[in-house]
Amino acid sequence: MSDTGSPAASIPLLLRVRNGGGYAEFRVDAEPGRTVLDLLERLRSGGRSVPAYRHSCHHGSCGTCGAVINGVEALMCLTKAADLAEPRARLPGGPALPPERDDGGAVVVTLEPLSKMTIVSGIAVEPGPVFAGIPDGASYLRTESAEGRADLPLDPDGAAVHSGAWRPDGRTRFEACIECGLCVSACPVAVPFIGPAALAAVNREREKRPELATAMLAVAAAPDGVGPCGRHLACSRVCPQAVFPGKHIQLLRNALARQ
Ligand code: SF4
Ligand code: FES
Repeated sequence: MSDTGSPAASIPLLLRVRNGGGYAEFRVDAEPGRTVLDLLERLRSGGRSVPAYRHSCHHGSCGTCGAVINGVEALMCLTKAADLAEPRARLPGGPALPPERDDGGAVVVTLEPLSKMTIVSGIAVEPGPVFAGIPDGASYLRTESAEGRADLPLDPDGAAVHSGAWRPDGRTRFEACIECGLCVSACPVAVPFIGPAALAAVNREREKRPELATAMLAVAAAPDGVGPCGRHLACSRVCPQAVFPGKHIQLLRNALARQ
């Protein structure tokens, strides 16, 4: 509903979804709050033949629905029609430009698969390059030790008290990365490079597990480690989780310089 209490006007969109060497095109009238993923799902449930795409959670936590939307990597489940009708950057960090419109005034929305990944079909990709450089056993979920639990506030029965955040029993989540691969796709480095997501993970391992610091710095110092990074910061600009991979790469550089 608009501020006046009347339904907000729908936004005419021309959705262009990469499909091999061409595009499948769909005209849709979208409520401003509808996401790109909502619209693809609506088309598909209405019997339209939509090129393949990946998704799971619909709310920005599984990391599977990344695409290049009008030139910028984003999660389809968090990108709303209203966002696309406003001036937006056409490349990470670029100036905000008015939306492209077709002759009928519809906002043109072009969906491309993430780059540097193997395309399975349509805009669905196999995200192996996101994970390739992440250290084995990276501690995304840390089992809470008895000592760790002692650091948490306890209720009278000795159970940990959490401030509203849900945690699987006995586990503490301390990683923000959802391995969506947006940073890897946006990174313009074109030489062998393990990439921003992996280097962010390497730096977190270095910080959180001092016993692995030497091994992690060896990963960072390898030819495909921090060296190829050109400080473009596209990774940090597109990351939906504020991981700021560029910051982690700089922290690795600083640590290497201190060695
Ligand atoms: S660092 Fe950010 S952009 Fe890169 S994979 Fe993780 S959540 Fe996605
Ligand atoms: S569907 Fe899970 S992040 Fe978009």
